[in-house]
Amino acid sequence: MNINYNETIPNNVNLSDDRRLLRALEQWQPAYINWWKELGPDQTQNFEVYLRTAISVDAKGWAHFGHVRMPEYRWGIFLSPAEKDRRIGFGHHKGESTWTEVPGEYRTELRRLIVTQGDTEPASVEQQRHLSKTCPSLYDLRNLFQVNVEEGRHLWAMVYLLQAYFGRDGREEADEMLSRHAGDPNKPRILEAFNEQTDDWLSFFMFTYFQDRDGKFQLAALSESAFEPLSRTCRFMLTEEAHHMFVGETGIMRIIQRTCELMREYDTDKISLMGGIDLNIIQKWINFHYSICLDLFGSERSTNAANYYSMGLKGRYQENKINDDHLLTDSYVSLPKIEEDEIRNEETPALTAINMKLREDYAKDSQRGLDRFNKIIESYCIDTKLTLPHPAFNRNIGVFKDVKASPSGKIIDATTWNKQRDQWLPSSADYELVKSLMVQVIEPGKMAGWIAPPKRGIHGLPIDYEYVLFH
Ligand SMILES: [Fe+2]
Ligand SMILES: [Fe+2]
Repeated sequence: MNINYNETIPNNVNLSDDRRLLRALEQWQPAYINWWKELGPDQTQNFEVYLRTAISVDAKGWAHFGHVRMPEYRWGIFLSPAEKDRRIGFGHHKGESTWTEVPGEYRTELRRLIVTQGDTEPASVEQQRHLSKTCPSLYDLRNLFQVNVEEGRHLWAMVYLLQAYFGRDGREEADEMLSRHAGDPNKPRILEAFNEQTDDWLSFFMFTYFQDRDGKFQLAALSESAFEPLSRTCRFMLTEEAHHMFVGETGIMRIIQRTCELMREYDTDKISLMGGIDLNIIQKWINFHYSICLDLFGSERSTNAANYYSMGLKGRYQENKINDDHLLTDSYVSLPKIEEDEIRNEETPALTAINMKLREDYAKDSQRGLDRFNKIIESYCIDTKLTLPHPAFNRNIGVFKDVKASPSGKIIDATTWNKQRDQWLPSSADYELVKSLMVQVIEPGKMAGWIAPPKRGIHGLPIDYEYVLFH
């Protein structure tokens, strides 16, 4: 095969000089394109989408915008520039030089971390594949596709690591990424939140707010890794993740704004009859997405997480800004436990509480957006506050998995839970209602009735620009 890979696969990893890697990617690429056509955005092969393509890691490389057919998108492989003389920041190897090769004794753990991260990327594309049929505007449709192609690129990033550094089993894992599928009963994606459906746009904006934020925290923790290629790959991925969260946060803000406008106009909080999304529905979607995302952080107490930390494979969020010994062999933190149907605390070695630390940082970051949402509601003089549910609410992993709790964190029995559940989490009637509002709007500049227009268009273009051309 005679392909100029610097052209078709933009990269800064000297792809054209690495014959072994080239061969592996040559074999993988057709399978990836088939997967995209089969399980990527549904019936969109001929759409020309105004997309941003990364062609290098400097600021100029990012400014590459133009209409592209998605299967022809140039998925590239990029690492952030190496930091000079970077040292390992935590764990047993703290202070030593970082690794450019995979250490044999940590190979299995490192591969598992990369596979788990990699698996979420194509999963989200699969989860979102039907959304184009109900897009609220061309602007939003384009943003959906931008997120999708970048999640595709994130898969490329992880596949690159597997193929370049893990030999044959890495290549097998790369193939597996395309054979597990979101929601497939026989071969599901690894993490549960990535098997849920994302069939309506309220779910999509919640997904990009909450699930992609989990992505940010996982990538940030992996970017602390002693394994240089992983660290540098994740650092570059974080720049894309920021855009996904922007789509989520501004999407939710625009929905809230429209909801508040309708509430004021009709002087009622039941605005679904007027084509809007009630605040209490938005709250239920928050409750659902936030609680399933907390599960993504794993158990509060975890020896795996402790091992990853001590080995230097996965750190904490902004490790070097934390003021402690970065070994955690003698420190303790307070963790929740359930005792006599109550949530109590107990002192636990900080090393086994690494997941909890990342989860808490995630919770703080999530709350910041909620504060902005509430400012909008306040500005319309509406007396409602959106909140994040308590960590005990609706959990399937960790200390809270065997109890039922209200959104405020009160432990309740199963009967009470069953009675109240539909007031806290989306019911089938809520899904039906939200779905009924989802009608496709593709006239440039027009918006569906349940969402306010964005403040500005993309890359300096007007809001009514033709971001997607249909043929
Ligand atoms: Fe991603
Ligand atoms: Fe993302």
